[in-house]
Amino acid sequence: MWWQEAVVYQIYPRSYFSTGTGVGDLRGIIERLDHIVDLCVDAIWMSPVYCSPHADHGYDVSDYFDIDPLFGTMADFDDLLAAAHARGLRVLLDMVPNHTSDQHAWFIEAVQAGPGSAARDRYLFRDGRGPDGSLPPTDTVCSFGGGTVWTRITEADGTPGQWYFHLFTPEQPDLNWAQPQVLAEFERIWRFWLDKGVDGFRVDVADHLTKDVDRTDMPEGNQLLEHDGHNRTHQVWQHLRRVLDSYDGQRTAVGEVWARGAEHAGYAVDFPTTFAFDVLKADWDAAKLRAAISGAMWERDELGATPAWVVDNHDTPRTATRLGPGQTGVHRSLAMTQLLLSLPGSVYLYQGQELGLPNVDDLPDEVLADPIWARSDFTDRGRDGCRVPLPWSGDEPSFGFAPPGVKPWLPQPAAFADLTIERQRTNPDSFLNTVRKLVRLRHEHPALRCGSFRWLDSPDGVLAFERSCEADRVVFMVNMSDTPVSLPAGTVVAGDVRGQLPPDRAVWLAGA
Ligand code: NOJ
Repeated sequence: MWWQEAVVYQIYPRSYFSTGTGVGDLRGIIERLDHIVDLCVDAIWMSPVYCSPHADHGYDVSDYFDIDPLFGTMADFDDLLAAAHARGLRVLLDMVPNHTSDQHAWFIEAVQAGPGSAARDRYLFRDGRGPDGSLPPTDTVCSFGGGTVWTRITEADGTPGQWYFHLFTPEQPDLNWAQPQVLAEFERIWRFWLDKGVDGFRVDVADHLTKDVDRTDMPEGNQLLEHDGHNRTHQVWQHLRRVLDSYDGQRTAVGEVWARGAEHAGYAVDFPTTFAFDVLKADWDAAKLRAAISGAMWERDELGATPAWVVDNHDTPRTATRLGPGQTGVHRSLAMTQLLLSLPGSVYLYQGQELGLPNVDDLPDEVLADPIWARSDFTDRGRDGCRVPLPWSGDEPSFGFAPPGVKPWLPQPAAFADLTIERQRTNPDSFLNTVRKLVRLRHEHPALRCGSFRWLDSPDGVLAFERSCEADRVVFMVNMSDTPVSLPAGTVVAGDVRGQLPPDRAVWLAGA
């Protein structure tokens, strides 16, 4: 199956390319598809482009069957799908099943319909505690800030009413997945997009669908996994997997599963692929990385699962900053990208990762747009730093991202001038051209794409493994220690080496 070894490029549509407003759009993606094609990737995943009031930048969907006017029209979407397919790129959409927007027709109906109604039962409404119900049903804390996971509504007659549960912002009410209508509706949504020809979905919050919201012993909202909740969540995914598999064309899905260990393994068999987030969380720590990779490889070998390797996405500070200061972080980010591209499974690259973009940590307070900023009482700056629009060309903002004179929705730093796609294209040793070469080599080497995997002995702070497929053998090595290490025998296929492997660098060797 193509997705078992695919390289997927994540587009954050707001920040990819804007043809008009300073917010990226679908026509912008079509116009700049060649950048992705040049990277030799197999597919794109787009963060949500459905109708949304954008309380959480599209992860609050008000209509799953239409495109938000901010991004374009359904005709634009159809054109994008056709353009991508014509260039050999598969297209994955982001599916958001845990919650809807509070502007979704179902939620509006639920508020109007009153307590005990079938409409209210599609969400998680409860009476409040205390004589007048003015206390939230539990003390569970929301991981998106703002204190509680509960918000009280005003009933249709104007009186203070029931409370509803939201793992994220109040504008994202959680659905009640114990209610069969919810699954039926999501099957309809999946079929709608699969019938259009999309190649699959990235599934948001895949491991949290069913939860015991009445539990009182969980301080953090997103730890609220019900004891038997996994079983019910697994049933949902097994059902939707059958839907996916009933289509031709090798449709797929990748689960956003932050659960760990045995819990993760459960989802790794439900989904064609699941993100191996332990690798992302290991940062620049050889022992943790080795354990994380081994865990995912265990799922692969024992359960037939396909790991989806990822270190950068729209929720996490960019590796070029997260993994170290200055150029150290940039070198490590490149080495990490090479590590991912050396592993068996699918690889997800987040837009801008191919440029070595830094996280923008000094955005002015007044432009911060992530709901976490306001909900944390302006203490947690949220995720905007990794969502700053891409620099395409030129020497000053918007670096070709938006038409002249149009301000991007988040300001770009002056330092982006050296990192534009235009500038990096002309330098054969640029970050961009190196990543492009690595992706191309992964495609060319059967060993890297689909060969066997074996750890090799290595000194502390160094990871080394071998991939091999018949006569093709590639050794990967990354140096996370602070001294140079000697290289095993073989010809350098890719890597910045000078006789030895310097700290913060990775290498591919062949032919040993
Ligand atoms: C995970 C998404 O990646 C993130 O951006 C979003 O805020 C939450 N899920 C809620 O949908």
